[in-house]
Parts: sequence; structure tokens; C-alpha cells
Amino acid sequence: MDGNGRWAKKRHLPRAMGHKAGVEAVRRTIRAMEDFGLEALTLYAFSSENWKRSEEEVSDLMGLLRFYIKQDVEELVANNIRLHVIGNYKAMAPDIVKMIDKVLERTADNTGTILAVALNYGGQDEILRAARGFAQKAAIGEIVPEDITEAHMASALDTAKLPPLDLIIRTSGERRLSNFLLWQAAYAELYFTDTLWPDFGGDHLKAALQDFASRDRRYGGR
Ligand code: FPP
Repeated sequence: MDGNGRWAKKRHLPRAMGHKAGVEAVRRTIRAMEDFGLEALTLYAFSSENWKRSEEEVSDLMGLLRFYIKQDVEELVANNIRLHVIGNYKAMAPDIVKMIDKVLERTADNTGTILAVALNYGGQDEILRAARGFAQKAAIGEIVPEDITEAHMASALDTAKLPPLDLIIRTSGERRLSNFLLWQAAYAELYFTDTLWPDFGGDHLKAALQDFASRDRRYGGR
């Protein structure tokens, strides 16, 4: 969800206002995703590297997250959306962990679209955590190295319960993965748009999906 800062700067507003406008784009995109019948959408809300930002900006983002959960939880529940979190969110502030666990519990039986939110998430960190888990199991003789297969690895990642990744949309003209879903991106299609995240909405999602529909996916075959 890139470009919040630049969106605010263009308007001579503080960065926090860009993130606030970003939350409106989150709402628009979730509604559009439901209209388009997507199975799952993952939003990169806070990376494990975002802690390097100023204390003020981190605190603004955490405040927005609290605000968003409080304001929108009923809509998520009512719309049959199932929340999922990827990333080491348990290391975040205890009140946020509690709020998230409550929403996870309340939406666990929902059967509609999956809304996955990446919080304190880094693709390398996710792979490291899985590798450490395997090493611990090997150390106590629970597994041997040959047991570690691609399927095994996939099931040890935070995305184990999500469908395979089809499309990554990167906003604001950036053209890199920035530590997002590194393992899962192996055969994902990439879509880049210059639109700043706060300007993103249903029409932009539709354009990305139309572009995706025109791709020829070969997964390394012919
Ligand atoms: C990147 O833009 C955006 C973020 C680091 C935060 C995204 C968070 C939200 C939109 C709000 C919270 C999320 C939810 C799900 C409620 P940037 O700040 O890097 O912008 P810039 O590249 O223009 O500086």
C-alpha cells in the first residue's frame, strides 16, 4: 500500500493524513474485492522493517490500526469476511494483539472472502521462522532433512491456510517486492501502477484484474 507519504506531501499535509487516506482506500478495495468475488486479499500494512520509521509515524500507524479495527470489525463480521494475519503480530503492543485475536476469533467461522493483513511481516523473517522450526524438530529427532519438501515448507509459512498467490499489485511506481511474500511470489504475476495507494479503489483493482486475466501463466512449462 505504497505512496501514502507522497500523497500527503503533494497536498502539503502531514504523513499521518496520507495513512488516514490510505485507510479509506483499504475500505474501498475490500468492498471491490467482495464485488469481484476474490477468494483472498492480502494487504501489506506494516513490515518488520517499518519499525525503523520515526517514533511518531510508528505511533500514528499503530493508532490507525486500532481505530480501523474498532470501526470496521462489525462490517467485516457482517460481510462474512474471515480475517487472517501474517507476520509476527504477537510482538506488537499487547492491546493490539488482544484486539486482533478477538477479531480472528469472531470471524473464524465466516465463509466468505479472506482478508489477510500483514503485520510486523517480512518475507525473509517468515522463511527464517519456518527454517528455525524445522531445525528445532530435526534437533530432537522428530524429522530428518529429507522430510523438508516444498509442500512442507509452504505449510510452515504464515500463509499456510491461504490459497496460492496469483497476483501482486504494487502501487506508487515502485518496482520491487520489498520483502513481501517472497516464497509465495515464485509464480505470481506482478502488476505495477503509478497510482498512489490513497487514490486506489475499485476501478484500479478492476484494471489490475483485467491485466492479470490476459497473462499466459506457464509455471515454467511451455
Ligand atoms: C506505505 O506508504 C504505507 C505504509 C507503510 C502503511 C500502510 C498502512 C495503512 C494504509 C493503514 C493501516 C492499515 C490497515 C489495514 C488498517 P509510505 O508511507 O511508504 O508512502 P511513501 O512511499 O509515499 O513515503
